[in-house]
Amino acid sequence: MGFSTDAIHAGQWPDPLSGAVMVPIYQTSTYQQEGLGQHKGYEYARTKNPTRQALEDNMAALEKGAAGFAFSSGMAAINALMSLFQSGDHFIVTANTYGGTFRLFERILKRFGFEFSYVDTSRSDNLKAAFRPETKLVFVETPTNPMLTLTDIKAVAEVARQQGALLCVDNTFATPYRQRPLELGADFVVHSTTKYVNGHSDSVGGVLVARDEKWREPLHFIQNSAGAILGPMDSWLTLRGIKTLAVRMDRHESNAREIAAFLDGNTRVDQVWYPGLPNYPQRELALSQMGSFGAIISFSVANLDRARDILSRFRVFTLAESLGGVESLVCHPAVMTHASVPPEVRQRLGIVDGLIRLSVGIEDIEDLLADIDHALG
Ligand SMILES: Cc1ncc(COP(=O)(O)O)c(C=O)c1O
Repeated sequence: MGFSTDAIHAGQWPDPLSGAVMVPIYQTSTYQQEGLGQHKGYEYARTKNPTRQALEDNMAALEKGAAGFAFSSGMAAINALMSLFQSGDHFIVTANTYGGTFRLFERILKRFGFEFSYVDTSRSDNLKAAFRPETKLVFVETPTNPMLTLTDIKAVAEVARQQGALLCVDNTFATPYRQRPLELGADFVVHSTTKYVNGHSDSVGGVLVARDEKWREPLHFIQNSAGAILGPMDSWLTLRGIKTLAVRMDRHESNAREIAAFLDGNTRVDQVWYPGLPNYPQRELALSQMGSFGAIISFSVANLDRARDILSRFRVFTLAESLGGVESLVCHPAVMTHASVPPEVRQRLGIVDGLIRLSVGIEDIEDLLADIDHALG
């Protein structure tokens, strides 16, 4: 089946009780047992819930994986993945990874004896040099937030396989509509479904999908034991959001292409980061790996005061953290999403005080362009 057909149908079935076409919100914590040890496969809702299961099966189908698991946030999904490993294990991580991922790794998991090396995974020489005998996993984010650096998933998967390590890709920015890491050789995919997958900024959630069936039991064990599950209402909202993922992404991206063209070369802006720009160094990789360019744009202006001034003048774009919703958002990574990254690291990664990130929504493009024009002053 095609992507949109799977998005609308995979993992879903008419409700056996009423024939309801949409998977119901099974808002229950427990299930009746007809006799001791006799039940319909559901005993307690932390372990299994039909609404969550529909979402998990749906995301596994879209990512072309064997098993999916839904969590209460993207961070909970990443934490569940990391629970497969143990003290002394070493991990290679994309240098410009999301600030919350960096915080989980550096401030929490390090205390349990996990070791991390942050490298520019877009360069294979960097990557190869970072492996150690105890390297268990490469954790790649592509494109990165907010610098939009791409990593060649197929090339990294090959290197990881040669070194006997697993590969996980954070696919939040690209979505399975645009990029399917498991088909390119990754072992796991994680998502903050809070972003494009749900797409309506009304739910926080995360999904982890494994390519191989052998991970189903260990990951279900972790999900059930640690218990950071996605609730039935959020599972249902996310399932509903996914049905329009393809049409939303098409519109997000067509708006983003026009905005990037407007900003590029604009004298009121210093530099623009968008993989679709004609001179973007990784444009070809974006095309071959994602078939498109996404809808996040970063641009820089002189300094924090100028950035603050611009941010105060937006009327359609809302100043807020997060991204990937139908509404356009603007954020200041250094002060907002990446405040947990130390200033010297931010500087090295290019997350300067004059950097502004746009999450381009699906409003009318004329209104978005007029808003940016007005904000730039
Ligand atoms: C790329 C990426 N991964 C993971 C996360 C964490 O997801 P959540 O906020 O749902 O916990 C985020 C959040 O912004 C993100 O941008």
